[in-house]
Amino acid sequence: MLLPSAVLVALLASVPNYALATLDARSPAGQTMQLVRKAPFERTEEEWGIWAKIHRLGLQEKYDASTPQRRSVGTNLIINQNADSSYFGTLAIGTPPISYSVILDTGSADLWLAGSSCYMGCNQTVTFNSSASSTFVNQSTPFSVTYGSGKAVGDLAQDVVQMAGFQVTDQTFAICNQVSTGLLIDPVSGLLGLAFQTIASSKAMPFWETLVTEGAWESPLMAFHLTRYINASGAQVEEPGGSFDMGFTNSSLYTGDIDYVNMPSRGTYWLLEMTSVTVEGATIPLPSGSDSYAAIDTGTTLIGGPAVYIAMIFSQIPGAIPGEGNFESYYKYPCDTQVNIQLSFGSKNWTISSDDFELTRLKGGMCLGPFFVVPTTGATPAWIIGDTFLKNVYSVFRYNPPSIGFAQLSESAIAQNGLNLPPPSATIGTPATSVSAAGTSSVGATTVTADSNAALHSSLSFQTSVSVAAVWVMVQLTDFVI
Ligand SMILES: *[C@@H]1O[C@H](CO)[C@@H](O)[C@H](O)[C@H]1NC(C)=O
Ligand SMILES: *[C@@H]1O[C@H](CO)[C@@H](O)[C@H](O)[C@H]1NC(C)=O
Ligand SMILES: *[C@@H]1O[C@H](CO)[C@@H](O)[C@H](O)[C@H]1NC(C)=O
Ligand SMILES: *[C@@H]1O[C@H](CO)[C@@H](O)[C@H](O)[C@H]1NC(C)=O
Ligand SMILES: *[C@@H]1O[C@H](CO)[C@@H](O)[C@H](O)[C@H]1NC(C)=O
Ligand SMILES: *[C@@H]1O[C@H](CO)[C@@H](O)[C@H](O)[C@H]1NC(C)=O
Repeated sequence: MLLPSAVLVALLASVPNYALATLDARSPAGQTMQLVRKAPFERTEEEWGIWAKIHRLGLQEKYDASTPQRRSVGTNLIINQNADSSYFGTLAIGTPPISYSVILDTGSADLWLAGSSCYMGCNQTVTFNSSASSTFVNQSTPFSVTYGSGKAVGDLAQDVVQMAGFQVTDQTFAICNQVSTGLLIDPVSGLLGLAFQTIASSKAMPFWETLVTEGAWESPLMAFHLTRYINASGAQVEEPGGSFDMGFTNSSLYTGDIDYVNMPSRGTYWLLEMTSVTVEGATIPLPSGSDSYAAIDTGTTLIGGPAVYIAMIFSQIPGAIPGEGNFESYYKYPCDTQVNIQLSFGSKNWTISSDDFELTRLKGGMCLGPFFVVPTTGATPAWIIGDTFLKNVYSVFRYNPPSIGFAQLSESAIAQNGLNLPPPSATIGTPATSVSAAGTSSVGATTVTADSNAALHSSLSFQTSVSVAAVWVMVQLTDFVI
């Protein structure tokens, strides 16, 4: 759903030192933000060379006429951008297929990419060139999606889309030529919405929903394991992000049972009713019903909720105070508190690590907390539960029966946090299963290998502005952006 948060984290993580003075001077609160993250890599000539070559070759691969198998599973290795600010994966579009990095967002339902004629907000990002795809169909229908006050505007089109070994031959998506500043941080070219068709601005059936309804997946669900780098002192702009599992759950990544809780209603956001929040041992019960609906949203960095409950959460932490100026809607608390906090869904509670609670250190021994106030508007769920929480569990988004499940991470999943490893290569896979949004399965899939794409990812990361985000806080933070 692309709510705030990422903006802030990305600022903290990636604003170079020279920019901090500006940032400081403009902050009414006069906060000094200490950079805990290393500056991004520098492009070497060799990296430029790899980048140029990938652009030229466009990851073209041969047509592979292997017969698709109907039910399958797939894994997309994802990338953690800017110390847990956002998580992106890779898909390929067109004939020949070209790979693109897209934010994986369970909080929205449209697929869009910056197009090669983009004239606003697409600087430095890899863009989609429709003339280079022989299967491209322009639907010539205007498209616009609004995330808070940020938007992406363009036209709808249709083409072959592949991801993690799955292919939809006629996926509707948007090619955007105007994108709000900061929505795309290179190398990210767009966004893959993983919520339900009913909330798609395009009205088109989302990629995942076509796969699940056409029976392409072995089990009707998708799952995430997201890594944590927020407390890793040497974190690079891009790090291994965990995995996006399609059609199965990976039992190496969790222990015990997956606790599924039914969704209160079918098919808009991925929603759960949150039952309580426990802070420092004190349980804050939440009302039942839609006042406590929470969107479980991989596309949001932090956790948003109603003002009254956010205040109650911080009132349990001695010395916590509301943020001011640019930190309005957030709270600060004394860094020497290792905050102990659980969220409850159904009958189970899940702990958020104190590493995730401490967003960053501010002046005067105060730390910034990851809960912010979401203004209540009609359509927005009361709570937006983003990556601050999702890093602590294996999360499963189940189409049927419609529910969301959480499980404890396994030792091996936890061991992937903070590892100093190169980000994974793009994993588009060889499509084994091909379906059509129009409802007919097609035979004959295309192979994409995208092996050297990791170099592309790392060599393209030089962002100094905000990250993916949403966008009402972006308004507040806009004057931070260089
Ligand atoms: C994007 O590129 C245009 C043209 O090169 C430039 O005028 C503009 O300042 C750039 N915008 C950003 C946000 O870098
Ligand atoms: C788009 O692709 C066409 C055909 O391959 C090519 O001629 C053109 O230069 C490309 N345009 C851009 C902006 O890359
Ligand atoms: C698609 O069609 C619309 C309307 O005719 C046009 O404005 C747009 O440039 C086309 N897009 C592409 C990528 O060809
Ligand atoms: C982050 O915190 C976890 C435990 O909370 C710890 O195991 C890990 O070593 C920390 N990572 C770094 C890089 O400090
Ligand atoms: C399951 O997770 C483990 C640990 O990350 C990984 O090694 C394995 O490849 C994953 N399996 C699949 C099918 O993705
Ligand atoms: C969390 O759940 C466990 C067992 O299900 C229970 O013992 C514990 O009291 C709960 N804690 C909170 C904070 O709700």
